[in-house]
Amino acid sequence: MADRTTTFTGIQFENPFLLSSAPPTESESNIMRAFEAGWGGVVTKTIGLHPVVNVLGAKAKFMRTSPDDAYVSMKKRPGAALHSSWNWELISDKALDWWVPRIRRIKDAFPNRALIASIMAGSGNDKELRNWQTLAEACQDAGADGVELNFSCPHMDRKDMGSNIGKDEGLCSVVTEAVKEVATVPVWTKLTPATQDIVVEAAACFRGGADAIVSSNTFPALPIIDPETLEFEINVDGLVSSGGLGGPAILPLSLCNMARMCQAFPDRAFSGIGGVSDFAQALSYFLLGCGTVQVCTAAMLDHAVGPNVIGKLLAGFDQFVEKHAADGWKSLKDFRGARRDRMVLQSAIRRPEGDDYQGGYEIVEGYATPDRSAASV
Ligand SMILES: Cc1cc2nc3c(=O)[nH]c(=O)nc-3n(C[C@H](O)[C@H](O)[C@H](O)COP(=O)(O)O)c2cc1C
Repeated sequence: MADRTTTFTGIQFENPFLLSSAPPTESESNIMRAFEAGWGGVVTKTIGLHPVVNVLGAKAKFMRTSPDDAYVSMKKRPGAALHSSWNWELISDKALDWWVPRIRRIKDAFPNRALIASIMAGSGNDKELRNWQTLAEACQDAGADGVELNFSCPHMDRKDMGSNIGKDEGLCSVVTEAVKEVATVPVWTKLTPATQDIVVEAAACFRGGADAIVSSNTFPALPIIDPETLEFEINVDGLVSSGGLGGPAILPLSLCNMARMCQAFPDRAFSGIGGVSDFAQALSYFLLGCGTVQVCTAAMLDHAVGPNVIGKLLAGFDQFVEKHAADGWKSLKDFRGARRDRMVLQSAIRRPEGDDYQGGYEIVEGYATPDRSAASV
């Protein structure tokens, strides 16, 4: 029998699959439904001190592509497959006071499921640092099992907020440290992929005392311009701002960041996000070294909280463990990180030798027919 339980940053999880901070976790009823469906944990939609007002119209849309033309568009057409989600949604439009009694009620109803409160404030002065502490204290007092610091929202105008914190190693350290001063529960930091070297910011968070790094939030992105109307496919009065890309398109990008961090800090805790809809994708994150994975886009498209997605993740986990029974694998700890060391420098990858070498003229999809005469020059 597969043992799905896991301990991550000291928190007990019935299974390592969480809903990430996003629309699936924006309300009490969603979170209750998610737990009923079997998710091991949730990270709440990011909570701030003050209510925010979102843009007019859709806050998120989905891009699809079709096999015949590879056209990536928000237009729905038959036979098209999901490519990504795009959003310019801000943090929760409900303030801290709204969330506190709800966190308490959810934890009363599901004491054995993990609830992590995602929080966000500024970082420009001591008052803003105090705001992080106020948020963390209120959530933990209400029963949250941990807090996730949002250093990663890609569409914040303020220079001292969201991904602008995640791009600055000094701010990453200072804010994490401020929260750790008051935290009685584990502190996770969610980093932005929109940075030159995410390992630098991960190191800064750990210096500030972070218990885990979470990656990835969405990647800065624009919707495409409709060739007929010459308008962005999502816009308000013809205007758009940079938003965030999630879903299948970001899986390989997020894996690369995760691989680099897991290698740099093999003894630390990581939670993987980006493009997970089935166990196969979650497995990549686990094999790199992640102790939990989180899901957003796939859950949004499955009855808003992903009852079928969690069903597939759990079934996939059980089947995988059963298949590897002979390897002695019973639970996640037996295979977590098993492929952590497989990403190496390009120069460490084996080259063909002697006659095997075709001078780069092997028949490969996307390249012209091999030109033997050029190879022999
Ligand atoms: C509509 C929408 C809203 C989101 N809001 C938040 C948020 O409030 N806080 C946060 O940390 N991440 C937020 N995210 C990012 C997701 O939690 C997740 O990191 C990202 O979508 C990548 O995961 P996926 O590929 O499973 O979608 C949001 C994503 C979407 C699509």
